Amino acid sequence: MVHGKWKWMEEELQSLKEKSQLRTLHDTSLLENGWVLRGGKKMLNLASNDYLGLSESLNENKRYQFMKEEEPISSSLRFGSTASRLIVGNDPIYREFEKQFASYKGTEDCLVFSSGYMANLGVISALIGRKDLVLSDRLNHASIVDGIILSRAEHKRYKHRDIEHLEYLLKNADSNQRKLIVTDSIFSMDGSIAPLEKLVELKNRYGAMLMVDEAHSGGIYGAQGQGLVHSLGLSNEVDIQMGTFSKAYGCYGAYIAGDSILIQYLMNKARSFIFTTALPPINIAVILQNWLRVQNESWRQKSLLEKSAWFKKELQFRGFNTGESESQIIPIIVGDNKETLNFSNHLQEKGVAALAVRPPTVPEGTARIRFTIMSIHQEVDLKEALVHIGEIGQQLKITL
Ligand SMILES: Cc1ncc(COP(=O)(O)O)c(C=O)c1O
Repeated sequence: MVHGKWKWMEEELQSLKEKSQLRTLHDTSLLENGWVLRGGKKMLNLASNDYLGLSESLNENKRYQFMKEEEPISSSLRFGSTASRLIVGNDPIYREFEKQFASYKGTEDCLVFSSGYMANLGVISALIGRKDLVLSDRLNHASIVDGIILSRAEHKRYKHRDIEHLEYLLKNADSNQRKLIVTDSIFSMDGSIAPLEKLVELKNRYGAMLMVDEAHSGGIYGAQGQGLVHSLGLSNEVDIQMGTFSKAYGCYGAYIAGDSILIQYLMNKARSFIFTTALPPINIAVILQNWLRVQNESWRQKSLLEKSAWFKKELQFRGFNTGESESQIIPIIVGDNKETLNFSNHLQEKGVAALAVRPPTVPEGTARIRFTIMSIHQEVDLKEALVHIGEIGQQLKITL
């Protein structure tokens, strides 16, 4: 029992515990073929964002295709970047990479941020301010929500993927306000896909900017993993494309892709870009290496999408509610926090790392197990996991 100055914290933590919302850390080591050692137990990892299995990549310590002959290799293999990009942290590897990545994304330019969270915070708060309006899908990621709060703009949430609701809000908005529509392309906790073409139509009709967060589609969708925006031919229509290297690219860091002037503006205005030390140059070198694998090893995307569609069908066949999933993110919606935790604990006992996602990450009353598939999962392992999921789900009366 803690007394004195931290009593309020203890009470808050106790209240989280009573609502089955307390979070704790577990030692986790990644093993081969999508297995993991979690809390000392070997489990099939159905909770990772390493969709293509690229997180195993190590820097190969070689010259990269764009490096000039005379450039010292060691410069781009350092860990410490020593300062922010705008001071002396801008190793040549950054701009070379950004130019190439922009061309892959079909945009004029691109800017690397330290993480997706920081990109969303910095970009949204740079683009809109107190007098402006932001229209955001109700299920957008927390980093988008935090960027909006930081911007102090008027914040209106539209119903999930509901174009009519969004249009109603746009119609009734002050025509003098600068407007930003923002959406995930694949929703992180639901696996549903945003109606990007319709959003483009609306943003054009109402003179709004459109920002799309490709965190969960980058590396996977499109001919070479350029993401959903590119695969729909919308690279020039979506004003701000954001994505992260921490998921399918199996690395760390994030980017914004768009017009040159946007990138120049963000270099000057995005505080999470300006006031932080640049990512280690070696991190960019590993991103580059993984990006080449994303482009050249298309069996990874194919295998991921095939396994995901099959896994979802198998869950539905067993009577589970998989919500609106259309991707490699497949939830089983349970509803109650405690029941969801209980389901997850039983699964983990059987060697299935499938974790409970509870409010505030998802709306109240929609707690769920979030399954994510990896291209390197073995079919035999997924089949065995499905047997456990089905049996435990029935035992706990989670099936429909
Ligand atoms: C939709 C979405 N945007 C942004 C982020 C943040 O990205 P990062 O993990 O690189 O900070 C995430 C990751 O959790 C996400 O799911």
